[in-house]
Amino acid sequence: MKKFCVIGNPIEHSLSPKLHNFWLKKNKIEAIYEKKLLEEKEIPKLIESIRKSELNGVNVTVPFKNSVIPFLDSLSSEAKKTNSVNTICKEEDKIIGHNTDIVGFELALRYINYDVTRKKALILGAGGVSPSIILALKNMGCENIYLTNRTFEKAEKIKETFNDITIQKWGDIPEFDIVINATSVGLNKENFDLELNKFGNNKFFYDVIYNPSETNFLKDAKLNGNKTENGRMMFIYQAHQSFALWNKVLPKIDKGTIEILK
Ligand code: ATR
Repeated sequence: MKKFCVIGNPIEHSLSPKLHNFWLKKNKIEAIYEKKLLEEKEIPKLIESIRKSELNGVNVTVPFKNSVIPFLDSLSSEAKKTNSVNTICKEEDKIIGHNTDIVGFELALRYINYDVTRKKALILGAGGVSPSIILALKNMGCENIYLTNRTFEKAEKIKETFNDITIQKWGDIPEFDIVINATSVGLNKENFDLELNKFGNNKFFYDVIYNPSETNFLKDAKLNGNKTENGRMMFIYQAHQSFALWNKVLPKIDKGTIEILK
């Protein structure tokens, strides 16, 4: 029986096992997908289990999307461009890192017909997922990208890769059309120390977080008359691409798929 897992720390919130096990069953693939709470020092051992085919594929979440990279044999061009890996598989005895978050975010915006061209996008957070959001926005033709992070230096580091983005100091909020929460704030009901309600209504607030389904960030935005969206579809689309890489099958994304995550 094939075996897959998602690694992260924390990992409790992850709905990847629920989604992948649903698709595995639907497609009659004999396999199991689990979640694994990991410490950074355990990464080499985990990669070894992929090498030995004890594990057939791994999803990577916070905070390991970058720290797994030195242990892999090669990276897809998207993973290279973003220095971020969320999917690992073995292809002809080589351990390869992929990044399906980029296409996940792109397809999530396309799903709701949100056009980013000529829009101003503000990204909150310079952690593991932020480079993927930036690359996806650029791929979709967004030319005005602002990045702000509590720790300024981490935003500056990302600008070394994407030099046409603008870095804002934490708390200095530029005019924007869409704001994306790419931080971990909200996973545990926390609030931002930003006054986002100052920024008017009729904007689009997107949260990469999908569990809980409505963070305080989105709750407040909605109360202030803004359009909101959580990360559920991004999550589904990134999982969809991982599933295809491992199993060479593109599972169906239907109402049932979306329902099981609610
Ligand atoms: P990592 O920090 O290891 O890259 P991550 O979960 O991918 O892990 O990123 C967490 C993101 O959430 C970071 O942008 C972090 O900001 P810092 O770089 O300043 O740590 C952000 N974050 C976490 N808690 C936050 C808080 N209370 N307020 C604002 N940003 C926060």
